[in-house]
Amino acid sequence: MQDFDGSIRACKSMAELERVRVEVFGKKGFLTTAFAELKSLEGDKKKEQAAKLNALRDTLSELIEEKKSQLEQAEIDVAMRASAVDVSMFKQNSQAGALHPVMAVMDKIIEYFISQNFALETGPLIEDDFHNFEALNLPSYHPARDMQDTFYLKDFRVLRTHTSPVQIRTMLSQKPPIRMIAPGTVFRRDFDLTHTPMFHQVEGLVVQGAAEVSFSNLKHMLEGFLKHMFGDIRVRFRPSFFPFTEPSAEADISCIFCGGDGCRVCKHTGWLEVLGCGVVDPNVFKAVGYKDVSGYAFGLGVERFAMLLHRVPDLRSLFEGDLRLLEQFR
Ligand code: PHE
Repeated sequence: MQDFDGSIRACKSMAELERVRVEVFGKKGFLTTAFAELKSLEGDKKKEQAAKLNALRDTLSELIEEKKSQLEQAEIDVAMRASAVDVSMFKQNSQAGALHPVMAVMDKIIEYFISQNFALETGPLIEDDFHNFEALNLPSYHPARDMQDTFYLKDFRVLRTHTSPVQIRTMLSQKPPIRMIAPGTVFRRDFDLTHTPMFHQVEGLVVQGAAEVSFSNLKHMLEGFLKHMFGDIRVRFRPSFFPFTEPSAEADISCIFCGGDGCRVCKHTGWLEVLGCGVVDPNVFKAVGYKDVSGYAFGLGVERFAMLLHRVPDLRSLFEGDLRLLEQFR
């Protein structure tokens, strides 16, 4: 008799096992034939042979079942191994992310002011008329409100047009002295090469006792800051106007593209305007109930800094999410 035990044990696949099963249990299989041949036997011989065959049938079918579940488990193991994720695998061309250039410049600005002992303050993007305008010496009839291209919401609320309302919120919730910056998102109805409806500013405010803070402190501090950001440049202050500062100024740096000789970027003036600033207007202190104090403030557009530092010609391209642009800042 053939060694069916051995053949079953030696099976390496379900197909092989099926072949052996047919050899034993199939229509022309060994056992089927053997059972059929019982007919030709008589008496005790027939009984004996039948008992033997029954026992063999039981053993072999048990063996087959056992082998079957072994092979099934092995198949599952192979499939699991094949679909497993190798977390240690190194992918050659995997793409590293990076900070958006605007956020990277924002971080550099924040880091500088933190190194100069400024505290970081924040405020809501949706502001009310009082914080965004009124308390900043911008009453509703004031023509300077037109400078702001405001997005208006219901109930006199607005998308804040600048970070200056954070000055008001900070002064209302804290006592002087104050030394803060407020980085954040602001909104204006504007869209061209150098303006997007959403952009970022960093505001600064320093408040101390009466006559303790002057315009020269402001100049000194901003010169240090602008040299930190742009390197070896010259800084000049031009008289300007903001309702919340008096006197007010705009700070220019010597053109980083032509060194001040005059080029297209600086419109042949040799200078680039980079921020607004001034001595805090007494009406602002009145609005927040501060007495016997002096202070200065400044505000800058982060995108403007990023455009100059990275020579981005069209501000809108910074917000299109085009990987070809973003990959250059990795
Ligand atoms: N808030 C002004 C703006 O958005 C900038 C500014 C801030 C100017 C503080 C002076 C002082 O244009």
